[in-house]
Amino acid sequence: MTGATIWLTGLPSAGKTTIARELAERLRGEGHRVEVLDGDEIREFLSAGLGFSREDRHTNVQRIGFVAELLASNGVKALVPVIAPYADSREAVRKRHQQEGTPYLEVHVATPVDVCSERDVKGLYAKQAAGEISGLTGVDDPYEAPESPDLRIESHTQTVQESAAALHALLTERGLA
Ligand SMILES: Nc1ncnc2c1ncn2[C@@H]1O[C@H](COP(=O)(O)OP(=O)(O)OP(=O)(O)O)[C@@H](O)[C@H]1O
Ligand SMILES: [Mg+2]
Repeated sequence: MTGATIWLTGLPSAGKTTIARELAERLRGEGHRVEVLDGDEIREFLSAGLGFSREDRHTNVQRIGFVAELLASNGVKALVPVIAPYADSREAVRKRHQQEGTPYLEVHVATPVDVCSERDVKGLYAKQAAGEISGLTGVDDPYEAPESPDLRIESHTQTVQESAAALHALLTERGLA
């Protein structure tokens, strides 16, 4: 089967992990080989020691992109729900895939920051508001939204299932599912 990297970029609590897991389940049910490279797990191992400076965030994204491409070039659907705030970091990952001839899709989970801060799954928005942390993406750290993603998902106007279905439809359209 054809592999591909599907990168879900967006703010903290936008719904990246939730949508990726829903899509993963669906694809597995159809017999695809799937791996979810989630930001939090990656930071524990592959990117242990990296912080949240611009440089470290860039390095984190390049490492994940490298592994995703390896998986994707071996027939795996690599789903990557990782914030990836910088356009140039994402562009470098896309280029790497292009060079290798490996399919790459960028999905913007475009949930507005006020909805994200209400969801606040990890309590980060509250901590930032209380002055306990700083450098929160989309609040007091940059988030460069993709200008022309392969798909933009408005998670605040549709269900998780609808978002996963839209993503699945894109894969089908591109001959990847
Ligand atoms: N339509 C929707 N799509 C996705 N998530 C939704 C939706 N409606 C509500 N949610 C909820 O929003 C939360 C999104 O959290 P999730 O962990 O997926 O975000 P994330 O983008 O992975 O954040 P982080 O960058 O912090 O890992 C979940 O609790 C999910 O159940
Ligand atoms: Mg997540």
